Amino acid sequence: MGLTIGIDVGGTKIAAGVVDEDGRIGVRTHRDTPASSVDATADAICDAAAELIAGHDVEAVGIGAAGFVSADRSTVLFAPNLAWRDEPLGARVAAKLNVPVVVENDANAAAWGEFAFGAAKNVEHMVCITVGTGIGGGVVIAGQLLRGAHGVAAELGHMRVVPGGHRCGCGARGCLEQYASGTALVREGRARAESGSLAAAQMLSVCGISDPAQLTGPMITEAAMAADPCAVELLEDLGRWLGEGLASLATMFDPTQIVIGGGVSAAKELLMKSAQVAFEKNLPAKSNRPHAEFTLAELGNDAGLIGAADLARHPSAAGLDPT
Ligand code: BGC
Ligand code: NA
Ligand code: ZN
Repeated sequence: MGLTIGIDVGGTKIAAGVVDEDGRIGVRTHRDTPASSVDATADAICDAAAELIAGHDVEAVGIGAAGFVSADRSTVLFAPNLAWRDEPLGARVAAKLNVPVVVENDANAAAWGEFAFGAAKNVEHMVCITVGTGIGGGVVIAGQLLRGAHGVAAELGHMRVVPGGHRCGCGARGCLEQYASGTALVREGRARAESGSLAAAQMLSVCGISDPAQLTGPMITEAAMAADPCAVELLEDLGRWLGEGLASLATMFDPTQIVIGGGVSAAKELLMKSAQVAFEKNLPAKSNRPHAEFTLAELGNDAGLIGAADLARHPSAAGLDPT
């Protein structure tokens, strides 16, 4: 098979690119994610894909979507942080474009991208966590992407870490996503600032704002990069939650490698270090078992796009191709 298109549907941007068999992106395009409706989002996806299809011989389209995707990889059943509910995204896009379309969970796609071409290349047992608006998860076991019975396995962000904790967009309470995501980072940052902490006031001034409500995730990560103590502490807290969660996840999947990716990228080294420290400390039977290695996503923000394109190329997702 030759070229496929990968599309990553983010909260603000739809990124699309033509990808070859080696995971290299050729031509790219993008659209703003329409805030208005799911229909407009499907249209924008089609529009971006059509632009690329016009100039290339494309065999299939893979879409990474931030939600629970059906076993047949066509319907977004639910998206905790977006408006998709039983959205037949794959069928809609395929009908317009006249090419096969595969819809994947965005984090599954990112995990696959990192496994096939990135930081965990051919590492047969790996776990990928993406930290952005939500927490995404992808798991490769024995070279195969874990999908579960209904397509919705590896929703690692919705593992409960605090009984009775913060309410999550999924409807449950205490999910990892409520403690270790970019959304949690902003919630904690604002809470600190509103509580009148001096350190937080200093952080706001580093960010160039005075109203805590104006604080954003990228502002906090940038302030952390500039060594602002409050921002550093917020990022370290996030990493600690992540590492503790990953220690539990290692009891299930026993991965060789753990890849950290997603949008909270400016302060990624800081985040990963603190996650790793918490992981080492909390891993059950830590002194008597091998520990997973931590790495940052190598494909960065392109992991989902590249992974989705590759999964569209190998619809069986049967793992490594025999070469
Ligand atoms: C969703 C996942 C998604 C993740 C990252 C979570 O809230 O449940 O499906 O992978 O966010 O976008
Ligand atoms: Na997933
Ligand atoms: Zn949840």
